[in-house]
Amino acid sequence: MKLRVLHLEDNVADVELVRSMLAQGGLDCDVLAVNSGAAYLAALQQAQFDVILSDSNVPGYDRGAALSAAHERRPGVPFIVVSANPERADRAEGVAACVAKTELQRLAQTIRRVLPDATPGQFDAAAAHVRDLERRLAQRTAELDRRTRELEVLNRELETFSYAVAHDLRSPLISIDGFSQVLLESSAAKLDETDRGHLERISLGVRHMHRLINDLLNLSTIVRAPLHTTVVDLGELAQEIVQELRAGAAERRVECVIAEGIKVQGDAGLLRLALASLLSNAWKFTGSREQAHITFGARTDGKGRDVYYVRDDGAGFDPQYAGKLFGPFQRLHPQTQFPGTGIGLATVQRIIHRHGGEIWAESSVDRGASFYFTLPPTP
Ligand SMILES: Nc1ncnc2c1ncn2[C@@H]1O[C@H](COP(=O)(O)OP(=O)(O)OP(=O)(O)O)[C@@H](O)[C@H]1O
Ligand SMILES: [Mg+2]
Repeated sequence: MKLRVLHLEDNVADVELVRSMLAQGGLDCDVLAVNSGAAYLAALQQAQFDVILSDSNVPGYDRGAALSAAHERRPGVPFIVVSANPERADRAEGVAACVAKTELQRLAQTIRRVLPDATPGQFDAAAAHVRDLERRLAQRTAELDRRTRELEVLNRELETFSYAVAHDLRSPLISIDGFSQVLLESSAAKLDETDRGHLERISLGVRHMHRLINDLLNLSTIVRAPLHTTVVDLGELAQEIVQELRAGAAERRVECVIAEGIKVQGDAGLLRLALASLLSNAWKFTGSREQAHITFGARTDGKGRDVYYVRDDGAGFDPQYAGKLFGPFQRLHPQTQFPGTGIGLATVQRIIHRHGGEIWAESSVDRGASFYFTLPPTP
């Protein structure tokens, strides 16, 4: 809401000067300039003002008359004399302030000083606006709370549902696996090579499904388990994981560069799971490289956040799918070349989100991949 100013001044140049000084002083004003006593009286009659500025003398009318008209018609509205040569009369009783025309840069500040705390119009309207905003904010917050509670209930139901489904899928699977084994053993003599091949493929499929179900169950456990937050050294974790990967594939030539001293706050078990998944992807998808390179490190981004990354120079992927990979069962490479269930990155994303961080990936086909994540700053 603008400050309503009535300005009695007969010199057009001075009117303009006052306007620009008010704007320069940061006051958002609506100035009504009048150049005669009659126009001044009419304006006082017709409109509300927050402050009155008056030249010490306009032809046929002086500040004394202007002051008493203001007191009579708009009592309480500060009256400021703007004078070419301030004299004692300019500071008469009832005048809130007097500003010399040579010192108009003080005008905005003077107006601020003489304005009552709650200037009718401007501050009342602003306060009403703030109250209205507060009321609307409270309504939105209540609505948001309600929706969050609904979503929490739905989420819990969904988790329970997927847990139950995954859990119950296990027993028929165990039967299929068990009976195909029995068949393979008891009827081995009767079966030819092709039949045995079929049974073995059933068995392989069943085992793959077992892994899928176990991974799904793990995923839903991760969402439910409470976080146990401590200081975690990600560099140390990464070293341990790489040692395990090396132990399982002594023939591979992989150069790993692991940054040291990267300490964060988080759940050590879950962060280990996330790093293990990212590093074993890097390990797996560089499998076709004679000499592979894997890096784990940290850098600060443009917003001052610490960003941690796992980078490799392996098979990479088409960057248009970079966002999809974090959904369960999303795989871009054939099972025969790079086996897996497609749950790893979904798990990593949940872990990072549960910590309040973000995760994203960059890559291009055959040029390696980089996975980045953030965690809330350590207090
Ligand atoms: N470092 C990487 N380089 C290239 N592609 C990758 C990399 N990491 C992940 N991907 C792609 O993202 C897909 C999903 O990864 P994710 O870890 O979820 O599944 P996965 O490794 O196939 O199976 P698992 O559940 O055993 O981890 C992968 O199948 C692969 O296509
Ligand atoms: Mg994986």
